[in-house]
Amino acid sequence: MKKDTKKVFIKNFGCQMNTRDSEVICGLLRTAHYELTANPKEADVVIFNTCSVRQHAEDKAWSEIGRISKAKYSKGQSPSGKVPIIGLVGCMAQNYQEKVFERSPDVGFVVGPSDIDKIPGIIKKLLASKKEGTVPCPPAGRESPKFLERKIWETDGQLRPEEIYHTGFYEDKDHAYVVISEGCSNFCSYCVVPFVRGPLHNRDHKAILKEIEEAVDQGITKITLLGQNVNAYKDGDINFVKLIELVNSIKGLKEFSFITSHPKDTSLDLFRVMADCQKLQKALHLPIQSGADKILKLMNRGYGREDYLKLAKTYRKIVKRGALSTDIIVGFPTETEKDFQETFDLVDEIKFNSAYIFKYSSRLRTQASNMLDDVPKLEKERRHKLILGLQRKISNKLKCYLRKE
Ligand code: SAH
Ligand code: SF4
Ligand code: F3S
Repeated sequence: MKKDTKKVFIKNFGCQMNTRDSEVICGLLRTAHYELTANPKEADVVIFNTCSVRQHAEDKAWSEIGRISKAKYSKGQSPSGKVPIIGLVGCMAQNYQEKVFERSPDVGFVVGPSDIDKIPGIIKKLLASKKEGTVPCPPAGRESPKFLERKIWETDGQLRPEEIYHTGFYEDKDHAYVVISEGCSNFCSYCVVPFVRGPLHNRDHKAILKEIEEAVDQGITKITLLGQNVNAYKDGDINFVKLIELVNSIKGLKEFSFITSHPKDTSLDLFRVMADCQKLQKALHLPIQSGADKILKLMNRGYGREDYLKLAKTYRKIVKRGALSTDIIVGFPTETEKDFQETFDLVDEIKFNSAYIFKYSSRLRTQASNMLDDVPKLEKERRHKLILGLQRKISNKLKCYLRKE
């Protein structure tokens, strides 16, 4: 490694899609001869790969950026005396675009999820302008003329170049996340993902298989196929069920799984293939979001309570000993005590192995943001606590039962 190699620190927020994107960014940076560091204090560049799904996720990222910016200008905080360039990338970058610079003037670049291939080039430009002395590096105080700092933002990308998935960088030596589809076109009324990740785009199935084979060649034995709605995958004649069969036949691959499934696109064929494919883990994450038909309709989910109950029953019948997990949102606008009780009763009836319970958070641009966020914070907390308590009991009981079996 050359002596003046620049060091990059990356912190990840959000879902598995972001975990994989952070790996992709690391792979691209390594190929461009940057060194990755686990210590932000010695970094020349600090990148935050962010999430916008709930307000809480955004608040966490803003406060991290605030902390690093503060350290950037306070004497003695950085033993190496380095003043890092700060990059905000991922879903928040797409959500706020150049407005990020108003909220956080210390951020040097903003890059949306569809533009991550451009990150090494952007860093190169910013480091070069720093060398030329056009970027002020005040030793202390924040009164320096910030307007001289060069800012770059890239948020207009449409399709990611296929090459970004083939740098061979995986955080884990035994397991790899493999993206099969990007974006989402479902527009659930509460969800920001279609706005920040763009419309559904399926990767070419041959490219997916090639990436898995490359990962297996470097010793990886377990794979998770990733997409916001994997069941909607389609590339010509290859639908998700066929893709599973193809992945199952890859030599050297020992085990694989997938997330996330959408009830409206989940078929009997999927359960059959889950039962048949030896290497496929018998686990299905199938977010229900609510147990009340009125709320499911307002959420634009495309299925009702009975449809979901039927799916869950069929899954358990066909995929023997298959685990079932879910996501639930409490406190969606207009959710009454009766609506909530329907969700509670459904959780009690289905007996999920595990569930993620979220409090509704109104998101910019979404359809539901036009509705009054009328369930009070304390009431959301109460409903959240009640379902969490119930689910904990169920999960523990199921674990004991499985241990005894
Ligand atoms: N594509 C996946 C996951 C999307 S985000 C799916 O469709 O299931 C993960 C979870 O975050 C969602 O399942 C949902 O339960 C939750 N979520 C999304 N938007 C939210 C919001 N505005 N408020 C609270 N929870 C939300
Ligand atoms: Fe969001 Fe719905 Fe798409 Fe999931 S399926 S990412 S909840 S819009
Ligand atoms: Fe968050 Fe973006 Fe994932 S909004 S949940 S990081 S797709």
